[in-house]
Amino acid sequence: MASPPPATLAAAVLLLLLVVSHPLASGLEPSLPASSPFDAALAALQGRIGYAFGSPDLLRRAMTHASYSRENGRALAVLGLAAAESAAALRALAADRDAPASAVSRAARDAAGEPACAAAGARAGIPGVVRVAGSIKASAPPVVCGALRALLGAVAVDNGTADAAAEVFWRLHVVTAAAM
Ligand SMILES: *[C@@H]1O[C@H](CO)[C@@H](O)[C@H](O)[C@H]1NC(C)=O
Repeated sequence: MASPPPATLAAAVLLLLLVVSHPLASGLEPSLPASSPFDAALAALQGRIGYAFGSPDLLRRAMTHASYSRENGRALAVLGLAAAESAAALRALAADRDAPASAVSRAARDAAGEPACAAAGARAGIPGVVRVAGSIKASAPPVVCGALRALLGAVAVDNGTADAAAEVFWRLHVVTAAAM
């Protein structure tokens, strides 16, 4: 009997597989994302908005301006604006089912328009988080507002519903109103 018993062979193969598949042994595993100041800022931002992301990559993307990377929050901002307008229109009609179209329209514009949006984004600390190219000011209202809308869109995608985005929107909006 020159060959080893099957059990020994199986154990040897298993051991080999374990060694080869171990990340430290292979050195081929993608490295874990390093904890950077940006990651720390994203974590703090989640605390301030009162929403914890299941997929933090969505928040990372939302807090990236188009001037910084092709992977940015612009598409998320389209959704975020729609979610904010929807939340404001819903609130207006829930308060008064006979509200005229002009009033509903104004409520949506006032709540989701750039001035209120940039103010809410500033209160959430977005200027200190959003990544922009060197030539762009992170505190410029269009940048802050765009990032806030992207953040709302990111919450909606992460959550699978616009309700969570509306919650975050009103939380920041109330904070803004109370602070002014
Ligand atoms: C959606 O958001 C709500 C409110 O923040 C949270 O309780 C719930 O766990 C979230 N669901 C998912 C699937 O992320």
